[in-house]
Amino acid sequence: MADASRMFALTGQVAVVTGAGRGIGRGIATALAEAGADIVAVGRHPADALADHVGRVGRRCHSLVLDLSDPAQAEEVIPRAVAAAGRVDILVNNAGATTRGPALDVTPEDWHRVLQVNLYAVFRLCQAAARDMLPRRRGRSSTSRR
Ligand SMILES: NC(=O)c1ccc[n+]([C@@H]2O[C@H](COP(=O)([O-])OP(=O)(O)OC[C@H]3O[C@@H](n4cnc5c(N)ncnc54)[C@H](OP(=O)(O)O)[C@@H]3O)[C@@H](O)[C@H]2O)c1
Repeated sequence: MADASRMFALTGQVAVVTGAGRGIGRGIATALAEAGADIVAVGRHPADALADHVGRVGRRCHSLVLDLSDPAQAEEVIPRAVAAAGRVDILVNNAGATTRGPALDVTPEDWHRVLQVNLYAVFRLCQAAARDMLPRRRGRSSTSRR
């Protein structure tokens, strides 16, 4: 029977995980690092606790402090990930924005921010990551959203 740890080995691969500093994204990034991937963690705050853990399992963690609700900052993610880690093999679009409170109180600015993070940034990161992956003819993208 095949060794499961070898079947799922990601040694030498680079995973970009948005919203990796806490919650589900941190769990995803931790699992990817434990499987052997180097991590590029994206969020509005540095992913310090994640970086400590990733270092302890012998992998690298690059933290990019960027706000995905700003289209210009979203455009920076993949170029900066490639500059820091050399390539992108895996993209996990985990970061998500929502509004709290009654729907009738949601402002156009609130709604715009939700769409920027949940749709625009996801699409643009997928496009940019695919351009990096295409020459190697392999790579994976996913999202935590239902
Ligand atoms: N929890 C659930 O039950 C559930 C169920 C289904 C789907 N999901 C989806 O799974 C994802 C993660 O959920 P979670 O519960 O772990 O959420 P969470 O604890 O609220 O974490 C959200 C993450 O997204 C990042 N983020 C938010 N806005 C951002 C922005 N403008 N720019 C960059 N990063 C941003 C945050 O990092 P910073 O604060 O550093 O920016 C944080 O790391 C979300 O997309 C959510 O919709 C969650």
